[in-house]
Amino acid sequence: MKKLNLRDIKKAKGQKLQVLTCYDFQMAQLFNETDLDMILVGDSVGNVVLGYETTVEVTLTEMEIFGKAVRRGAPDKFLIVDLPFGSYSTVTQGVHSATKLFQATRCEAIKLEGAFPYQLKLIERLTQTGIPVMGHIGLTPQSVHQLGGYFTHGKTEDDGERLLREARALQAAGCFSIVLEMVEEGVATRITEELKIPTIGIGAGRKTDGQVLVINDLLKMGARTPPKFCPPIADHYQERKNLITQYLIDQRK
Ligand code: KIV
Ligand code: NA
Repeated sequence: MKKLNLRDIKKAKGQKLQVLTCYDFQMAQLFNETDLDMILVGDSVGNVVLGYETTVEVTLTEMEIFGKAVRRGAPDKFLIVDLPFGSYSTVTQGVHSATKLFQATRCEAIKLEGAFPYQLKLIERLTQTGIPVMGHIGLTPQSVHQLGGYFTHGKTEDDGERLLREARALQAAGCFSIVLEMVEEGVATRITEELKIPTIGIGAGRKTDGQVLVINDLLKMGARTPPKFCPPIADHYQERKNLITQYLIDQRK
């Protein structure tokens, strides 16, 4: 499969774009040989690989390390890397951080959370400099403390309107695509229908233009049950545990 470019992705509106997260070289090599549309090096690396409580602990240096590993394994995939918490608290700082991350990882785009006015200004600056930006609204885990937890957004009419306004503003600022995380299905559908750019959902129903999932959840690589919106297609935690257990029994025979 040919590596997608920004125009291909914008044109794929309505075509069920498939995105998976990735954090390491070997999984990236595997993804590189599939027809996955895009790879996201999410700051979820903090939760599933580094064992942090929240993504707030993830640093720009860490995103660079994981982004570079995935780039080395998947040279032929459209690669998106998350800007971590605290690396874009002002427009100036955000331009500096995104440029550094973009150059170091040689990714095709960066993703950042939120649609406050300074973030819209940052997105304008970045896209004008030549750094494609994916937006991200609804549940924005970097703001977990400010939000007061993890929950579905857009359940009231006011909140739905707010999300629609944010999505429009992100599109106007220059985003090529927007992640809708834990957005109520009806609201996600409305945003998807109204925008010209593709929406990528996670826990946002089935009407978005694409879907993104955390690979560790999809394969159930961890001890904990994955979130409801990600029914695992395997139980790699149990399978690996069984294999190691059997290996140890065999060695001690
Ligand atoms: O960090 C991540 O994995 C993400 C996706 C869940 C969208 O931002
Ligand atoms: Na993220």
